[in-house]
Amino acid sequence: FCDKYLQGQHWVITAGPTREAIDPVRYISNHSSGKMGYAIAHAAIRAGAKVTLISGPVNISAPVGCQLISVISAEDMHQQALKFAPESTTFIACAAVADYRVANIASQKIKKTNDAMHLELVKNHDIVADVACLPNKPFMVGFAAETQNIEAYARGKLVRKNLDLIAANDVAKSGQGFNSDDNALMLYSAIDKTEIPLANKQIVAQKLVSLINQHYLAKQI
Ligand code: PMT
Repeated sequence: FCDKYLQGQHWVITAGPTREAIDPVRYISNHSSGKMGYAIAHAAIRAGAKVTLISGPVNISAPVGCQLISVISAEDMHQQALKFAPESTTFIACAAVADYRVANIASQKIKKTNDAMHLELVKNHDIVADVACLPNKPFMVGFAAETQNIEAYARGKLVRKNLDLIAANDVAKSGQGFNSDDNALMLYSAIDKTEIPLANKQIVAQKLVSLINQHYLAKQI
């Protein structure tokens, strides 16, 4: 057993939420804290990997030893992911990326005039799906945050986004998923599934990193 079992590997990990500006003072975002992605970065560094952490705005500090790339919006994250992914062995998409952005960001603060207002949204690039289209694509791991039909939706994303693995969390359950200290995951490959039971995100991350490496090594044969 070697505790530096990821030596020689380069992991690129996306983490946290993205922020989509509406005007200079407002944005659309979600409840991701970055804790899950940062715990994966920490576990991968401990196991000897070089880690590039591409993170949306969070209130936690990056693990010592990682290369931190801070971004705000989904389109920023997309650009940085496509820059760093080609030199990586493994790409982990743990970020909760906004699917849509505001079509026309107002240059001045929007004033409260009408009783109703409409925001036009346009689709963002799918970061993990675009990385999976690279000619020398790394080993690809996505996440799925679901509130129902977890296995079916997660397996759908595994196939549609061209991933090797997908880690699904049930975000309808309290005490796990977005912003909590704990999580539970189901890891799906095309042919099998493995449960990582509810525990602190640091423990879940250690188990996940080891499982990802097992699948990665199996694919190299
Ligand atoms: O940050 P925490 O508070 O610790 O919470 C952790 C988490 C719940 C955010 C995390 O475990 C998680 O599930 N992250 C993915 C959340 C999500 O956006 O899932 P999704 O089902 O909407 O997206 C599926 C996959 O596509 C994800 O890998 C996502 O990163 C990726 N994606 C989505 C949209 C997009 N435009 N680009 C992407 O790369």
